[in-house]
Amino acid sequence: MNVLVIGNGGREHAVIQALAKSPKVNKIYAMKGNAGIAELAELVNVDYCDVKAVGDWVDAHKDVDFTVVTPDDPLALGLVDELESRGHRAFGPRKNAAIIEASKAFSKELMKKYNIPTAKYETFSDYEAAKAYVDTCDIPVVLKADGLALGKGVLICTTREEAQDGLREMMLDKKFGSAGNKVVVEEFLVGPEVSALAFTDGKTIKPMITSCDHKRALDNDEGLNTGGMGTFCPAPFFGEKSAKEVMEKIMLPTMYAMNAEGRTFKGVLYFGLMKTKDGYKVIEYNSRFGDPETQVILPMLKTDLMEIFEAVVDERLDEVNVEWEDGACVCLVLASGGYPEKYEKGKEITFGDLDSDVVLCHAGTAEKDGKIVTSGGRVLGVCAKGADIEAARQKVYANAKKISFDGMFYRKDIGIKYKDVVKE
Ligand code: AMP
Ligand code: GLY
Repeated sequence: MNVLVIGNGGREHAVIQALAKSPKVNKIYAMKGNAGIAELAELVNVDYCDVKAVGDWVDAHKDVDFTVVTPDDPLALGLVDELESRGHRAFGPRKNAAIIEASKAFSKELMKKYNIPTAKYETFSDYEAAKAYVDTCDIPVVLKADGLALGKGVLICTTREEAQDGLREMMLDKKFGSAGNKVVVEEFLVGPEVSALAFTDGKTIKPMITSCDHKRALDNDEGLNTGGMGTFCPAPFFGEKSAKEVMEKIMLPTMYAMNAEGRTFKGVLYFGLMKTKDGYKVIEYNSRFGDPETQVILPMLKTDLMEIFEAVVDERLDEVNVEWEDGACVCLVLASGGYPEKYEKGKEITFGDLDSDVVLCHAGTAEKDGKIVTSGGRVLGVCAKGADIEAARQKVYANAKKISFDGMFYRKDIGIKYKDVVKE
């Protein structure tokens, strides 16, 4: 089969590396890809948020048998619907299901209606009403812009002044654009966090190995929120008991709730969860693979990823045995100085002599005059497996030191978090 993968980050490089191993996959196209992806796929320079343009390209390329849509924007814009309406096979939720990520107000209402555990909240479109409410709620309080904001539309406010300032920025100053037209004001939860992803065809849901992200830019979870600075898997505190609770109280109820709403979800459903003293609660849903979670999850997948993608599209996921390796995997993100705020691009990257079992996932890289240069905030994911998280971590850090580019920075504490949390 010939497959088109939509996206250009580390996550897409991880997906493409897994697809390249599949005996079912012949040729891979990547729209738009990056310098690492170019080694495995033919790059296609079409704006993937222009769903009609993508549809036209696929129509014109009769050798493409299957499209995988990974980023949130084209999913929310209805790229899967567009491709299906033209008779093409595509992996990912339709627009009416991708709303589970695209609107926090929608996902909070869904959880309330179907008794899926989550933080208590109120939603506001009116600034004055939100302002009055924030004056009465417990501190810390969490503010979330309703729409997609690249993982940056969430403010954890530790004082009432900070909360009022944040509200003003979101609703009046439009710091996150139209994403802030509606704001969710939410109770602050405490506990370890886990990214629990699952494949689902709307009838069956099969969990992936769990992982933990590090969203803040700096060590000890300080600094600004980012798309993710590193991940490890599996989450040490997530054993069989957790898996059972999350399946029964969160994963299955969510799949059934989306069916009941006439919004059957097919694709990857990502549950961002917190293990609170009252059990697991949903912090967020994503309608896609996580980034950089995917960079640690897919290297642990024993099953052919293409076989899973096809089974989801054909609604026969129950027939596939999704299996995972033992051991652990760690991914460390090497970022451009200044990220997640302003940073420079076009810096040459030198790779050194990396261990053969280290896998690089390119995120913000491009080729220029035969050299590989930076082209984004998150530049590379350095990934390695090991018998346990500590072994994988050592390997990742030893190899990260060999890579360099002007302004490069990374967190020094990926994989340490939750070391002391009780194992299940
Ligand atoms: P989100 O983009 O919704 O995943 O939020 C970004 C990060 O903010 C999450 O990974 C959590 O660490 C934190 N966060 C979001 N909502 C809450 C909450 N209700 N209580 C505590 N922390 C939260
Ligand atoms: N790493 C978090 C996300 O992909 O949303």
